[in-house]
Parts: sequence; C-alpha cells; structure tokens
Amino acid sequence: FKVPAIDNEPMKSYAPGSPERLALEAALTQMEQELPFEVPCVINGKPVKTGKLAKQLIPSDHARHLCTYHDADEATVASAIDGALAAKAEWESMPWSDRAAIFLKAADLVSKKYRYKLLAATILGQGKNAWQAEIDAAAELSDFFRFGVKFVEELYAQQPSKNSSGCWNRVEYRALEGFVLAVSPFNFTAIGGNLPGTPALVGNVVVWKPAPAATYSSYIIHQILLEAGVPGGVIQFVPGPPPEVVSQAISHPDFAALHFTGSTVVFKKLWKDIAANIDKYKGYPRIVGETGGKNFHIVHPSAEIQNAVLQTVRGGFEYQGQKCSALSRLYVASSVWNGGFKDLLLAETAKIKVGGPRDPTNFMGPVIGKPAFEKITGYIAKAKEAGGEVLIGGTGDDSKGYFVQPTVILTKDPKSITMREEIFGPVITVYVYEDADFEKTLDLVNTTSEYALTGAIFASDRKALLLATDKLRNAAGNVYYNEKCTGAVVGQQPFGGARASGTNDKAGSISIFYRFVSARSIKENF
Ligand code: SER
Repeated sequence: FKVPAIDNEPMKSYAPGSPERLALEAALTQMEQELPFEVPCVINGKPVKTGKLAKQLIPSDHARHLCTYHDADEATVASAIDGALAAKAEWESMPWSDRAAIFLKAADLVSKKYRYKLLAATILGQGKNAWQAEIDAAAELSDFFRFGVKFVEELYAQQPSKNSSGCWNRVEYRALEGFVLAVSPFNFTAIGGNLPGTPALVGNVVVWKPAPAATYSSYIIHQILLEAGVPGGVIQFVPGPPPEVVSQAISHPDFAALHFTGSTVVFKKLWKDIAANIDKYKGYPRIVGETGGKNFHIVHPSAEIQNAVLQTVRGGFEYQGQKCSALSRLYVASSVWNGGFKDLLLAETAKIKVGGPRDPTNFMGPVIGKPAFEKITGYIAKAKEAGGEVLIGGTGDDSKGYFVQPTVILTKDPKSITMREEIFGPVITVYVYEDADFEKTLDLVNTTSEYALTGAIFASDRKALLLATDKLRNAAGNVYYNEKCTGAVVGQQPFGGARASGTNDKAGSISIFYRFVSARSIKENF
C-alpha cells in the first residue's frame, strides 16, 4: 500500500468575526465554564487517580486553574512500564498499514473534531494567542502525525541497493527492545504529541510524562490517540513530579530510549543518570533531546530594514519569547541601526499590546508561571547592573497574570550576560557593530554562546549570506536567510540544534525515526 499524498495543514485566519474565531470563542467560553478539569493518569487506556493532586494554573489569571491532575506515584509508574511492555508484542507486530491508519486518523481528529478544544486548552493553559495556538496545536500537531506516517513509509523503503545472484538482502526496521520514555515541554502542545507519537509510529511502546504546565492539552492529545485506535498500554500517560517519574523510568532494566524536549540542565542530568545506570540495561539507550537556545539575528549593512525589523519583532516576541527557537541576541550593523532600524524597532515594539490571550488585539500574553516571570525580570535587572540600557519595556506585572513587557536592551559588551544565557522570555539584547566588522562579528556570534539552535541572517548581498553561513557552520541547526529564526514547518525545515541545544536529530523529518528503530539485516540464500 502507499500512504496517501499529504500536505501541511492549512492554517485558519481567526480574523475577528470569522466563523473560526466564533467557533474558538465558543470553545473557550465552554472551557471556562467547565474548568477546573480533573486529569487522571491513564494506564492501559484506563484512568488512574492517585489522589496526589497538583494544579495547572492559568498564567493570564493565576487565581484560577485549568485542571487538577493526579501526579503519578511509584506504583503507577511501575504499572505504566509493566503495561507498556505487555502491550508491546501486539503493537509492534501489527501490520504497518494499521499503525499508519491510526496516526492518520489522529491527525484528522486534531484538525477537525478537536481543533478548537485543543486550541482553547493551549490558549488558557499555556497562554498562547489564537494564531500561536493554531500554528502549534492545530497545524504542527496534525503535521507531525501525518508527515510521520509518510516518513516511516520512506524509512521502511530504505533497502540494500544490491542483491548478488542467488540471494536476497533486506532490512527490517524493528522497534527498540524495551520502552521509550517521552518527556515533553510546556511551550508546544504539538511537541507533546510528537514525543510519544514518533517512537510509537515505528512500533515502540512509550511512557509519556508531559510538562506540568501543559497537562490539560497533553491529556486531550492522549484521549485523541486512544480514540484514533492506539491500544491502551502503547502510550501511557503519567503526569507527575518530573524527577520522581523520570528517575524511576530510567532506572528500569527495560528502559530503551529517552525522547526529551526541555532544558539543557535537565537533559545533561538525565544523560549522566542514564550513564550511571548503564549496566542495568539490556542495550545502550538511545538519547534524543532538544534543549535550549540562544538564537541570533545578524543584520548586515545590505539588509532591507523594514523586513529585518518586522522579523525581529516576531522572532523575539511571539509567544512571549518562549520558543526554544526564539530570537534573543541581535547584531546590527551601525549604518542600519542608525539608518532607521532602531527607530522602527522601538516604534513596532511600542505598538505591541500585552494581555489576556482571549483578546485578539493582544500580540503577547503571559509567560508561563511565577518562576519564569522571576527569571525573566531577574535577567533584565542583571543586564542593567552590567551596564545594559533598556531601550523599551523592562517591566512586568504579576498581580493578575504573569505579564512581561517586550524588552529591548542595548549592550556595548557583546559577551554580556543576556547575550550569553538563555532567558526564555520576551527580551532581545542588541549589540551594534561597525559595518567594517561584519566578519569579526560572525566570530563573536560563533563563540559567545554554548547553544546552537537557530539563527537568521539579513542581507541583500548574497556574499554576506554565504560568508555567514560558512563561518557559522556549527552555530545553529536551523538557519534562515531574511526571515525570523522561529517557525520551522514539519516536512519543510527539519528542526533541531547541536552543541548544548540538543542531539540534532531533526524533528519533522525522516532522520528522527532512525533513532527509534533497531535495524536487522537479513540475507537469504536461494
Ligand atoms: N519548531 C519550533 C520553531 O521552529 C520551535 O520548537 O519555532
């Protein structure tokens, strides 16, 4: 059989008054009337209530919470692992066309039946506005499932190129021996679906621990996967206190792989813990992670100013700068900075409205919680102490929700703290370089941060683009010419970074699927 032709999910406009805006409003109103929801663990397809309760707050209105969820306890994690291992044989031996059909159906459930519910959960729980939620919970999520099916079809078709006479060589792509642990972040509902979905598509069983701040949208995805036909046990839903759940899972002898998106600090710790457990396992676990970033825009003297500014505002401030790909350090040639870039950047930033994510005039919503609010405002204070000049923004208000104003800091020190460290908030630090120092600035970009996730170069001079691409060959896994450094599209720009940003296995492409299979070569003589 052949997987049907696929395309990226078309995005809706959500113009005020449009049918989709009205449908979304209705879903939001219903969700606000019904909240708080109760979210159990889901083991073998059945709810499990541990009674260890925790809350997912609404970051734009922290007096309310979206859901109360049951933290997985030790016995629940143990039964999740046992149940997953028990479900494994049937799932991996299921005809591939059935697994494909289940994920194609899940994509359709996301894009049709549950679109507005998923968006509403992402808007209320994770503080995205309608457009950011649409990119994520509707488009990217259904793309991950649909394109995933296509990628696996391509993977299975990779076969030896030669058979000598009298024999037939072939390769089978088997699921890993054991279970996969998926640990997903708060900032993309879609990544929540992708981290368990990718290994499951190639026949693995998965224990999935979603981020506490994305519990409800993750739970909806889990319900969708069950409705689409993923058998109970294949993906176990274990919300919970991260250290306990994760350390129990990686101490288990059947732990086979980690699929992680989150902070660099946690990923490095897990890597060390896995290393410490290495003698317990049957094999060498696969470790796949996408972590932090300190992403850059470089604006060359030949850049087109208006485009560079608008892309900068979007790259730095969309979703409050809480994308791992978000722009956070900006290098602008002095002739461009003084020739209109600075004025336009400040004018565009001043237009940004910050507030509750239901109001379509708000370009920015809240940051995810109190620790994030404190970390971001703390970095702004540290930048000022280090001599940085706050050109606009710099303030926050956490009285009702966790709101931080879009902030631009000018620094004379290209290695100052906010040029180096990840902030994960709406803060852009700018360093203005002399036009003649473009090449030296490329060296600075390359050596300033430990991360290498995304970057963009703005220039109309093609030689400048080529020079930057060459000099920065290890400084970003995703590079954009004349466009912001966020917004990789599944199937179009495989996504991931190197250095401290991750294992660069490229989500949204065939590459990542290789990490979750164990190939077996078979030579048959006739
Ligand atoms: N894939 C997202 C982007 O490119 C980040 O996770 O913005």
